Amino acid sequence: MKLLTQEKINEIRNSVNIVDVISSYVSLTPRGKNYFGICPFHDDSNPSMSVSADKQIYKCFSCGATGTVFNFIMDYENISFSEAVKKVADIGGVHIELGNIKKEKNHTVQHQIYDLSLKFYMNNINTPQGKKAKEYLKKRNINEDIIKEFQIGLALNSRDALSKILKKKNFDEKELTKSGLIGKNEYGFYDLFYGRIMFPLYDLSGNVIAYSGRIYDREDNSKYFNTRETELFKKGELLYNYHRAKDIARQKNQIIIMEGFMDVIRAHSIGIKNCVASMGTAITNKQANLIKKMAKEIILCFDGDEAGAKATKACAEELNKIGTIPKVIRLEENLDPDEYIIKYGKDAFEKKIANPISIMDFELSYLKNNKNLNDAEDKTLYIKQVIDEINKIDDDILKEVTIKKIVSETNISEEVIRKHLTQKKKVPKKDAKIINSSKYEKAEKNLLYFMLKSPEIIKMYDKKVTFMPTKEYRLLAREISMYYKEHGNIDEANFIDYIEGDTDLIETIKKVNQNMSAAAYTLEEIEDYINVIKEYNINNAIERMQAKMQEIVDPIEKAEIAQKIIDLKKGV
Ligand code: UTP
Ligand code: MN
Repeated sequence: MKLLTQEKINEIRNSVNIVDVISSYVSLTPRGKNYFGICPFHDDSNPSMSVSADKQIYKCFSCGATGTVFNFIMDYENISFSEAVKKVADIGGVHIELGNIKKEKNHTVQHQIYDLSLKFYMNNINTPQGKKAKEYLKKRNINEDIIKEFQIGLALNSRDALSKILKKKNFDEKELTKSGLIGKNEYGFYDLFYGRIMFPLYDLSGNVIAYSGRIYDREDNSKYFNTRETELFKKGELLYNYHRAKDIARQKNQIIIMEGFMDVIRAHSIGIKNCVASMGTAITNKQANLIKKMAKEIILCFDGDEAGAKATKACAEELNKIGTIPKVIRLEENLDPDEYIIKYGKDAFEKKIANPISIMDFELSYLKNNKNLNDAEDKTLYIKQVIDEINKIDDDILKEVTIKKIVSETNISEEVIRKHLTQKKKVPKKDAKIINSSKYEKAEKNLLYFMLKSPEIIKMYDKKVTFMPTKEYRLLAREISMYYKEHGNIDEANFIDYIEGDTDLIETIKKVNQNMSAAAYTLEEIEDYINVIKEYNINNAIERMQAKMQEIVDPIEKAEIAQKIIDLKKGV
């Protein structure tokens, strides 16, 4: 659903030069017709991202990331298409009615309910009924500035204070119960949060969409009570403090991950503002990706206890899966970051941040925990566990360093260790990929690569192939064909805007562009791709017919199919 016309979007895109915009995020150097820089979308060490002023698109030759100025900003800042359009319009000085765009995101009934509840809770804490809560916060070194900035509030010790207020506003009943703030039984509506200090939880753009309520003056089973998952609140998709921390993290190129939001609030209050919290649960793939996008240096600073060590290990593994290696801070005396900062002060904590340990050192000390290396059994177990860890390491140098470490630490001979290492086959990643992708898949990808550049190839595809075996490529080809029919030309930047919002198609374009940099093609090469695809399709059809023939009894029908198979074979 587009709120702006395609013409307006084009106008906004053309109001800026992609080279200027991207250089405000990544430093670019001119080379030939294009500009090159380090790609922010994968762990890049060479400048593999090119930005073309002619085509007004960027493209990474290594990970395949590609798109217009809008896509770059969307991915870099993790914002929606409309927000990216707004940003670019601002830069280019194009006037647009943005009321619509904001409204679409921000003014659902659920958001209104949350806005009102926030005002209510924030006000409560400043009334006489909030006195005890204020005292509690003061005891915890949470001053007025922090209360304001983090919008800390209070749910009164009443079972229907918020319900009453919201009912007066005539919200639809269903919306009230959907919010996760209000329940309903035979007597009417009641508050789900009462007698708790309310910490708002925010979505990625900073809208309040849930709460975590802490007890402060009574006994209860749970220290914190959280809003259940709702339409707006998907715990595994957000990180506490993300909207405040992301820009600072990007500037510093460092992000610190903590377990509790109290820890983040504390760190923020002493000026360490590049922190987010996972809020006590194992991090998900989505969260790991959010973290990866914010900064290159990722520091895990979980609670100093055993649970915190376990969480560190789990979080590191999730991050490893997406190709990032975090560093680790361990806090003594089982302290959490909040307690550590209060006890030892800002300087001590900053020192910790400046000297994080590697994940390998953390693993080793974690394995050593509760073991006595003078005890033969403990020592054996330790060595075996370390060997398991070494076998998981991809990096040759780190492997060697770790072997040396364990040798000197345990006095075991290097030979014995090496005997227990599994030999990993050395297949460079890129080659592995090429081997994996079959002949016809390569043909599909290459054909699409040039279809995105030349009407000539689109015409050839429409005439000679019309069907790609792999569904995602088929969909992209169809989309390109349709675009060409509508516009009579092909322009990659315009095309990418045209399919805006279709993340699947964008992903497919990424795949097509991966490891491809050719600017020109020969018709011979194209014919080759087309033939490979055609051959595949025909073989497929033959297989289907043969299977069908097995099932058919009627001899005439059988003969007809046999003839079809013969005809098909002629085409191969
Ligand atoms: P912690 O128990 O480490 O909280 O849980 P904390 O930050 O030290 O809190 P204080 O200092 O006691 O106030 C870490 C996170 O786990 C979640 C919360 O999101 C918390 O920030 N949690 C914890 C719950 O959801 N419920 C609980 O009962 C406890
Ligand atoms: Mn704590």
